[in-house]
Amino acid sequence: MTEAIRISGISKSFSGNLVLDNISLSFNSGEIHAICGENGAGKSTLMKIIGGVYTADSGRIWVRGEEVQIRSPQDAFRHGIGIVHQELSLCENMPVWHNVFVNREHAGPLGMIKKREMQEETKTVLGKLNMHIDPRARVSTLPFATRQMIEIAKILSMNIDVLIFDEPTSALSERETQALFELLLTLRNEGKAIVFISHKLDEVLSISDRITVLRDGCLVGTLDTKEATSGKIVSMMVGRDIKDLYPPKAKNRNGKTILQVSGVSRKAKFADISFELKAGEILGLYGLVGSGRTELALSLVGADRLDSGTMLLEGSPFAPRSPRQAIKKGVCYLSEDRKQLGLFLEMSVADNIVAAALDRVTSPLGTVLRQEVQNVAEELIEELDVIPKKSDLDVGRLSGGNQQKVLMGKWLAARPKVLIVDEPSRGVDVGAKSRIHFLLRDLANQGMAVMMISSDLPEILGLSDRIMVMHEGKLQGILENEGLTQEKIMSVAYGEEVVSA
Ligand SMILES: Nc1ncnc2c1ncn2[C@@H]1O[C@H](COP(=O)(O)OP(=O)(O)OP(=O)(O)O)[C@@H](O)[C@H]1O
Ligand SMILES: [Mg+2]
Repeated sequence: MTEAIRISGISKSFSGNLVLDNISLSFNSGEIHAICGENGAGKSTLMKIIGGVYTADSGRIWVRGEEVQIRSPQDAFRHGIGIVHQELSLCENMPVWHNVFVNREHAGPLGMIKKREMQEETKTVLGKLNMHIDPRARVSTLPFATRQMIEIAKILSMNIDVLIFDEPTSALSERETQALFELLLTLRNEGKAIVFISHKLDEVLSISDRITVLRDGCLVGTLDTKEATSGKIVSMMVGRDIKDLYPPKAKNRNGKTILQVSGVSRKAKFADISFELKAGEILGLYGLVGSGRTELALSLVGADRLDSGTMLLEGSPFAPRSPRQAIKKGVCYLSEDRKQLGLFLEMSVADNIVAAALDRVTSPLGTVLRQEVQNVAEELIEELDVIPKKSDLDVGRLSGGNQQKVLMGKWLAARPKVLIVDEPSRGVDVGAKSRIHFLLRDLANQGMAVMMISSDLPEILGLSDRIMVMHEGKLQGILENEGLTQEKIMSVAYGEEVVSA
């Protein structure tokens, strides 16, 4: 097996904070190498150094045996290295094909760009991922998971030999993940070196050849996947055992109906959806990408218009015209896309946390009370274990998983009656995931009505009291979560089975 990349003694600090400490490691051609570690362990930073986004403070890098300096993403690309970053970076207003070929447009002899050719190629790579979308579609019109697939298509079309995927599956559901994995295996067998970062240990165990674990910026070790178990990886990651991932089910299933949704539709997105959400329960919502789950949630909170249907909130008509109005009435939506709809990356952790709860931190005269902001923020930082525990840090400087915790904190601070969470544990590590699950259960037990959209079937099964399944914009059924299996939910989600509610 040949060595594609070797790094030696890589260290990196941010404002005096050591986040990578003397890391030495190699990635081989024809191998899928997984990197695991808790939120903030340094996984993305290490990949950004290899990808030329950051430069290391010290250390050396070799590509195919030759020592190189990687000072920019262009340098990395020249050396055959490409990354799918954890946070998406597509241009919303450009069509799919142009995002795939941005900055390396095919041009003819007279400089005319070969649009048709690039559109065709885009279609081909997306086809390999089982995505059948029009390459001319504007990115802004596409769901989050589809955008993730476009990012992946972009590096697949680059013809490079080291491909780094930083949590590519965190927004994907079962079917897209499978399509991606098949492709990764093909690429590996063609001799590419693949680096795969994920918090989903079952994925890591099923797809990788070797696993490296980072903890607090240090290399803990590298294992052959054949010898690894999830218990072993977790104890390397956190140095202790994790308590249960899922809390017990609802204490009280006889809560009053908080939100009643009757026959709501939005053209080309979803049709005739009716359900009730009760105080004290967690209602899971599952569906494949394109099933209309997120679109439904966006319409429930007024981010998108409903074409027909009605809603009642505690018995009174509820028809928010914006998420702001919904928040005022006590209905909050935690977006799956923390960058777009969730967080202000250039603002501090504290200001993000209170953004939807200004009434709690404002004096009767309308001035914002900084001490109150601080109190609310610090309480939630503690409860959610945001690391580092600094309320004045810009959110953009936190690791992906810690940003997710701040987003959760923002909605908890607002103390809603109805909390709709979309992929709440996206990108958070096992420990933090368990913490978020227990927290959601506590909120429900205190009387909140929680609706949870998730692509993670074990999470849907582990946490929900009832499970709503959508397929191509239609409600396939609402199932009591008793004796359910992943297979059962999948067959409903694929539209093979309809369950009468
Ligand atoms: N631009 C930056 N400025 C300051 N600190 C940063 C910056 N980028 C990352 N950090 C810090 O470096 C540490 C490692 O972050 P990194 O994003 O590499 O973690 P990660 O292992 O990818 O975590 P996650 O699983 O949450 O994505 C964190 O403490 C983070 O706050
Ligand atoms: Mg990361």
